Amino acid sequence: MNTECRIAQMLRAQKKHVSFHTPGHKRAGADITELSYSDCLVSPCGVLDGAQKDIARILGAERSFMLTDGSTSGIFSMLACLRAAGKTSVAVSGFSHPSVFHACAALGLTAAVIDRKTAYGMPVQPSAEEAAAVLSGADALLLTSPDYYGNFPDLKKVSALCAAQGKPLLIDGAHGAHLHFDPAHYAGTYADLWVDGVHKSLPALTQGAVVSAKLRAWGELLERAVKLFRTTSPSYPILASVEYAVKYPENAKIEALAEKFKREHGCCPNADWSKILVPFGDFCDEAQSFIEAHGVYPEFNDGNYLMFYLSPCTKAGELKKLGKLLKKLPRREIAKDAPAGIIPMYSEEM
Ligand SMILES: Cc1ncc(COP(=O)(O)O)c(C=O)c1O
Repeated sequence: MNTECRIAQMLRAQKKHVSFHTPGHKRAGADITELSYSDCLVSPCGVLDGAQKDIARILGAERSFMLTDGSTSGIFSMLACLRAAGKTSVAVSGFSHPSVFHACAALGLTAAVIDRKTAYGMPVQPSAEEAAAVLSGADALLLTSPDYYGNFPDLKKVSALCAAQGKPLLIDGAHGAHLHFDPAHYAGTYADLWVDGVHKSLPALTQGAVVSAKLRAWGELLERAVKLFRTTSPSYPILASVEYAVKYPENAKIEALAEKFKREHGCCPNADWSKILVPFGDFCDEAQSFIEAHGVYPEFNDGNYLMFYLSPCTKAGELKKLGKLLKKLPRREIAKDAPAGIIPMYSEEM
């Protein structure tokens, strides 16, 4: 397989040219449009086709499609596949991202919502039994894995459950693109259709994502579905970064350091090395201000935890700096029945 980045190579090989094409800034370089040499994302047959095939092989998919409009357009595409396959309802976690509910509303799919539960001030993934109860009255199951807090549903059990009922499993992996190195936790090991938010936990530019299908039949539906939601003016810098991100090597050193860091700094245990949750309770705002005054920025503050989001590009020295700052701050125990804080980005409805 070509592990070189085909799109970046193509952009680098570009000769200086006079632009009588979009975009209007009239500069060549990375931000070009679909030209004679740069392929076309709607019907790829050159460099973009090669990159997508490499990505599918790396992710263990029959087909993968690069997206420049975020995981949101991947979620719309997966759900459009269900509709195209004649399905009318989908069981979803109550903590699903708003795009899940928006897509269901736009596509005329009924979202059968699995009850929301929280513990220690954060969302709890639905159990296989809770998912089964709602799935029995729905045509498919869509879960988020991992969630924003680095927690996973029991992927083995839910995939067995879907297989037993002959219903497709869809996974929103907006926060799990870094897990293709870890098959036991990777969405693509279990799902029929899944999204990798490569811009969140791998080094892609913001909005870079991939949507994939495990089997040919879903791949054909997905090829049509992505066309409904993807821009017809894809950003080449984003496309190049998506390919780069999926081909980016595992960083076992930072993964191990992150797990050690969590143990040493009283962080909340979770199964995703890339999400560090530090419990501060009612001290969250002060802790955030103190840390930010030193130029260090967390992903979110939900009123219970500050969350620090890592990727294979996080440097050991950066983690060390964070550790030094955390040592100066008090920690709070979050009670099991503590209400959820302001849960970022989750919504029951549109
Ligand atoms: C769980 C989850 N799914 C989907 C999305 C949408 O991703 P994007 O912003 O790449 O469209 C997000 C965004 O934060 C998310 O948290």
